[in-house]
Parts: sequence; C-alpha cells; structure tokens
Amino acid sequence: MTFSYPRYLEAKRSVDERARHPKVWTTFLEAAAEIALANPGRPLRVLEIGAGVGDLAIKILNELDAESVNYTVLDVNADNLDRARERIASSLDMEASEDDAFVSTSRRNHRVRFVEDDLTSFARHDREEPDTGTYHVIVGQAIIDILPTYISLRIAHGLLRSGGLAYLPIHVDGLTEFEPTEMYDMDKRVMNVYHDTMTRTYSVDARWGPDPSGADRSDAARIDGAPTVCDAIAVQSDGARCGRDLLIDAPGAGFDVVDAGSSDWLVRPDSKTGGYVEEEDYFLACMLHFVEEALTDAASIDRSQLEDWLARRRRQLDDATLMLLVHNLDVLLRRR
Ligand SMILES: C[S@@+](CC[C@H](N)C(=O)[O-])C[C@H]1O[C@@H](n2cnc3c(N)ncnc32)[C@H](O)[C@@H]1O
Repeated sequence: MTFSYPRYLEAKRSVDERARHPKVWTTFLEAAAEIALANPGRPLRVLEIGAGVGDLAIKILNELDAESVNYTVLDVNADNLDRARERIASSLDMEASEDDAFVSTSRRNHRVRFVEDDLTSFARHDREEPDTGTYHVIVGQAIIDILPTYISLRIAHGLLRSGGLAYLPIHVDGLTEFEPTEMYDMDKRVMNVYHDTMTRTYSVDARWGPDPSGADRSDAARIDGAPTVCDAIAVQSDGARCGRDLLIDAPGAGFDVVDAGSSDWLVRPDSKTGGYVEEEDYFLACMLHFVEEALTDAASIDRSQLEDWLARRRRQLDDATLMLLVHNLDVLLRRR
C-alpha cells in the first residue's frame, strides 16, 4: 500500500461524519451564529488549525448561519493545503481572489484564506499583525495532540477573543481496537505499545510550560541555559489521553466547557454490500500502516510476531472482515 496523507484524510471524512457528536455540533453552530449576530456588519473570524484537506471547513461554511465569515485554513503540510484549496473551490460557491484567498460568488459574503505554517509560529506572528489578531472561533479536529493538550489550549486562548469558541472534535481518548481477534495476547500487546508510542517528549517554548495543574502526566524539565522566558523546555505528554485532557485542562487554560460527547470511530463492512463504504478500506489500510510505523522500532515487540499480526489483519481487510473501534471525544469550549 502506498501511503498518501491527503488521500488518508479524504478517506477519513465519512468516518468522522458518522462519528461526530450531533449535539455538540448543533450547540457549536448555534453559539457561533449568536456571536455573528452580536457583531452585525462585521465578518465572523474563524481559524481552523491543522485543517487537513478542508472537509470540516466546507461543512462549517455550508451549515453556519452567518452572513459573512472570514475563515483561515491553517496547515503545516503543503500537499494537504493544496488539496484543501481544490476541495473548497469545487464544493463551495467561491472563486479565487487576487491575494490567493477565495471569496463567495453567491449571496453570502465569505472569504477563505490559506496559510501554510506551524501553529506555534503562526500564533506568534498572527498576534503581531493587528488586523489579523484575534478570532471569534477556533476549530481544530484531531489536531490538539501535536503539542501537550494544555499548551495547545493556551495557544488557542491567546488567539481567541473573550467569549470566543473552540470547537475541538475527534480527539482520541484511550482506546484503539482492531477486531475480530485471532491472537488475543498479541492484540493486547500491540495496542498497548501503540498507545505508549503516543507518549512523546516535546521541545517547547518555556513560556508554555509546565502544566499548571502539576499532574504528573506532564513532566517538564529545562533543556539548558538560564531560566529566561524564551528557553526551550522538554515536556512529556500522553497523546492517547487527549480527549479527556481537553476537559481536564480547559479551566486552567482559561476556558469553560460548553459541551462534550463521544465521537467514536466504528469502521466495519457495510451490512448490505458486505464491503467497506466510500474509501474506508483505504482508511483501514492507513491505520494499519500507522501501527506498523509506530511499532517498527519498539523493543518490546518481536519483529516477526508483528509481521505475522499485520499479515493477519491485512488478510481480514482483503476479506472485508476487519473492524476498527477508536474512542474519541468532541469538546466545545468558551474562552473566559
Ligand atoms: C490528523 S490530521 C487532521 C486533519 C483534519 N483536521 C481532519 O481531521 O481531517 C492533522 C493535520 O494537522 C496538520 N499539522 C500537524 N502539525 C501541525 C502544526 N504544528 N501546525 C499546523 N498544522 C499541523 C497536519 O498536516 C494534518 O493536516
């Protein structure tokens, strides 16, 4: 299988759509429309971080009840951003403007700009530009674990206006399982080690750490030099807890939790056709690819046993018997 990041994200769309928590989604749309209504004559300013190939941007621009939205699509990956441009152009009633943004051609007055940047550097520069300083809404789907959760939240806090919303769906929360099982012990071991690889050490600007809650799931230590504001510190964080950490860390980062709910991925063969819908077979192949990549150098897993496990799972995928279950959470926050 050849892995393509944009293709994986396109294949993920139908899985996310099935998983999205409907009440959190509706609460988000209503709260964002209220902000738009309270600011007549001015565009609602939305920033989507790690927007991938643009599917959530398309959904929000289609369904949000607002006359005028300035939507910033931010991603560090040029291929994903190119695909987002193509998909947004073909799905929404928009055309390219001179400054490489897209503007509405219909009754709505929306504008989409595309920014290729890393979230941390974007947050630093965006606040230096008075015109593009703060946002009414931040959207981030399956992205918050690029940094320890409380740091992502503090960055979002700095980019949002007071009373602004952070809609943060599809954040993994501690469970990934492939079924049906053929090798019970090996399944447990593979999935435990896979989750362990989500505990990573990040080098971050000292001003973002350490975790104010003092919980020992985040462990900060200065890398070198005197303790000045711009030092880099090493912070360890468990990305597999990202969903629940959004709820736990929100108050300390200056947010109230407005709503939250489960958004589990369940990928299985369609009951009528017996095959996978849309491109979900490719999505499953990518999930196995991620497990293989993560575990290839894991000392606690024997390479030949891993190859055997992967071969069995890929056979199940070819036979359309493979199932995947991942527990995620959708979270809606409001900046105090
Ligand atoms: C798991 S994908 C999710 C994409 C999209 N939000 C979705 O749910 O389909 C993570 C996305 O974040 C982008 N990304 C990763 N690290 C980033 C960073 N530091 N700053 C901005 N974008 C980042 C990746 O390029 C990718 O498009």
